[in-house]
Amino acid sequence: MKRILIIGNWKMNLNIHESSLLVKRLSDRIPIHRSVEVVLAPSLLALQPLSREIDRRKFKLAAQNAYYRDEGAYTGEVSFTMLRGIADYVLIGHSERRIYFNEGLDLICNKVEAAIRNDITPVLCIGETKQEREGGETKRVIHDQLTTALANLTAEEIDQVVVAYEPVWAISTFGGDSPAKPDDISTAVSWIRSIIEELYGKQLAKDLRVIYGASVAPEFVSNILGLEGVDGLLPGAASLNYATFSAIVDAAYRMLHTNPKSLK
Ligand code: PGA
Repeated sequence: MKRILIIGNWKMNLNIHESSLLVKRLSDRIPIHRSVEVVLAPSLLALQPLSREIDRRKFKLAAQNAYYRDEGAYTGEVSFTMLRGIADYVLIGHSERRIYFNEGLDLICNKVEAAIRNDITPVLCIGETKQEREGGETKRVIHDQLTTALANLTAEEIDQVVVAYEPVWAISTFGGDSPAKPDDISTAVSWIRSIIEELYGKQLAKDLRVIYGASVAPEFVSNILGLEGVDGLLPGAASLNYATFSAIVDAAYRMLHTNPKSLK
């Protein structure tokens, strides 16, 4: 059975104390769900203390970034190796990292490989900018970002990757105030699966977990998760508010149990 995956990306918000408080509030509101996997992505600094505080039956943790070398003279970096046993997931290729920190396709490819090598599930974020969308380049961007990032993995390793489709123009950071239209999401997700199918076969394309992120809010959850091939959500701003984030989890749970298609 596929579980719905919901990852709250806290970005560079909340210190250790505030992070701990948010987890406590979420824990009071979110019950243990077998069908919804809830992942929190706090700052790197808060990851370790939270890893000791969270109820692992309710929450898993994701790092927002890491460096691909295991150790060495890379001042200021934290490696995937150091995150072993602390983070279950790691976001890779988020548009803020691509745009603000100039992360290119090669670096992202190395990071995906390092995550797999260290038994941490990579959440590969891909998506087109407003300019690329307007220039009719969405399909090419998705293709390039996906294929280059996965280039060093075997088919079995690709099976462990989560792909997050995050159209940059719809992310709150870049001015988005509502999610992409269902048609846009469906089209992008089917492109992602068909690229995987072409390269690695039908089964892998079917099994791959593909989630959607960008301006996710509780009122959009059932529409997005009701789309064919969408296995979860990656809210950013909405994950910082305990009432809103728990409403997203609750809406996903209710949607799942009223729409048996998604339980397949
Ligand atoms: P948003 O961010 O939900 O605030 O648009 C999503 C993301 O950047 O992952």
